[in-house]
Amino acid sequence: MSQLQIPRDFIQLLLARTELVDLIDGRVPLRKKSNNNYFACCPFHTEKSASFSVSQNKQFYYCFGCGAHGNAIDFLMQFDRLSFPEAIEALAKFAGIEIPRESKIPAKSTNNDDIYELLADVTKYYQTQLRKSEHAIDYLKQRAMTGEIARDFCIGYAPHGWDHILNTFGKTSALKQQLLNAGMLIKKEEGGYYDRFRERIMFPIHDRRGRVIGFGGRVLDKSEPKYLNSPETPVFQKGHELYGLYQALTANRKLERAVIVEGYMDVIALFQHEITYAVATLGTATTEHHLQRLFRYTSEIIFCFDGDQAGRTAAWRALQVCLPIMRDDIQIRFMFLPDGEDPDSLVRKEGRSNFEQRLQAASTFSNFFFQAISAQSDLSNMDGRARFVNLATEYLNQLPAGVLQKMMFEELAKKARIDVAKITAPQKPVFKKAPSIKARAPSSLRLAITLLVQEPQLAENVSEVLPVFEIPGAALFIELLENIKHYTFPNTGALLEYWRDRKERKLLEKLARTEHTIPSEGIKNEFLGAIAQLKKLAHNLKIQQLLEKASQNTLTPEEKQLLHELIHTKK
Ligand code: UTP
Ligand code: MN
Repeated sequence: MSQLQIPRDFIQLLLARTELVDLIDGRVPLRKKSNNNYFACCPFHTEKSASFSVSQNKQFYYCFGCGAHGNAIDFLMQFDRLSFPEAIEALAKFAGIEIPRESKIPAKSTNNDDIYELLADVTKYYQTQLRKSEHAIDYLKQRAMTGEIARDFCIGYAPHGWDHILNTFGKTSALKQQLLNAGMLIKKEEGGYYDRFRERIMFPIHDRRGRVIGFGGRVLDKSEPKYLNSPETPVFQKGHELYGLYQALTANRKLERAVIVEGYMDVIALFQHEITYAVATLGTATTEHHLQRLFRYTSEIIFCFDGDQAGRTAAWRALQVCLPIMRDDIQIRFMFLPDGEDPDSLVRKEGRSNFEQRLQAASTFSNFFFQAISAQSDLSNMDGRARFVNLATEYLNQLPAGVLQKMMFEELAKKARIDVAKITAPQKPVFKKAPSIKARAPSSLRLAITLLVQEPQLAENVSEVLPVFEIPGAALFIELLENIKHYTFPNTGALLEYWRDRKERKLLEKLARTEHTIPSEGIKNEFLGAIAQLKKLAHNLKIQQLLEKASQNTLTPEEKQLLHELIHTKK
């Protein structure tokens, strides 16, 4: 569901009614530091000294150690691992406010509550059946799965027969319909239903909150298909979900890295060998959604592929999915397995530390990229190198502009033995970086924006409508001012919420946590001073532009008049 379906005014009301300090203190005990600032050891990374701070004035938290930051909604998304609508729901509960009828959140979640409950019951049923089946237990033993791991992953067994689930859980036609919605039954052409999963080891798939949303089922012999998965249902989207993510997040408060493997048994075998950060896609290729989801929890992903040609091709495809989402603060690497092995067989054979050494030695994103591209061209002659440059440039242009892209272009130039300016100059980055006003905006403007973000109430001091400055950052400043006057944001956290989907968000968040040294009694004056300076700057700029036009004799009579006035009111 898109966050746009939730009325913006309601979100603002919610934030105005929430005390961030209380919200966080209920989960991470806070200590008071000084005037409305609280702190604690950061819940988002491991540390001994407290670098996590919460500002009551700003209604904004920030960790000096790991950089985690945000408002009340962000905190719930990060700490409770909720999606945006889920965080709104939780916050409404916390603040004791009802979500307005027209928004679709409550309706949707109450409907699905039934499915979640049903799937939880079915999971327990399969677990009970496993305990009763010597055949299934033998199979798991033969695959060296421990009882402890089977419990952690809620492994179960769907017995032989067509109607166990149907009869146990489908006592009414409404319940049968629910089982069908949940993907547990298949409709017969001639009417009636039968169990989807029969005589299979059952692997429940959990969402990040630990609710079962679907299953994978494996045969115990050589029959086909080897694995059967739940179909897409209202609670299960294959292109989004990752098997093992819930267990990985439960085992590690902070995921240093995640490994993407192919199969259910790979995740489980690695987990059993204390590599508790593996996840698997569900019989599909890795999608951008998978990666976006994972990067919410970790900054490093290692793909694990077969060492054969098929594995290399799959890796190249994965790399292409990664290109547009690469950021300078994330790492993606590629590991290739020895012939004929999968992570399950390999970790059982050589143990945790050897496997982790292989992860450590995995190719970096750029190494694998250049290796794969070089393999397609002959770098020993000019024609080959030209082909190499063309091919690589096409891909590198898909990277967001940033340090990584720059370095990769430099590397490309080095490999092709040409001047990097020759290949990068005509290229326009496909994705524009969020504008950084640091380099270009005058310092007075930067200060004015910083103060405004940190104390939105300052906007009350500007009653006039400011002229449109042709200065970098000015448009943002004016929009902020108007925005604050319109919504009267009570604090920084509420203001930032308005900018959640805007490209300027990152910049504003950065300014929100910038520490300035202006004493609180001087802030208003400093702010007004910055505005005065800005107006002067805009005034002089206009004069300059008109003078330039005058020197080319292209001034209109109105412009002449304006120039005259401007010069005589020169500030
Ligand atoms: P593999 O065929 O490589 O099996 O499928 P595996 O993971 O090594 O399984 P074991 O060790 O024989 O038990 C890899 C993944 O592809 C999906 C499953 O998610 C599986 O874990 N798959 C495979 C299916 O969805 N359906 C199939 O019929 C086979
Ligand atoms: Mn296997």
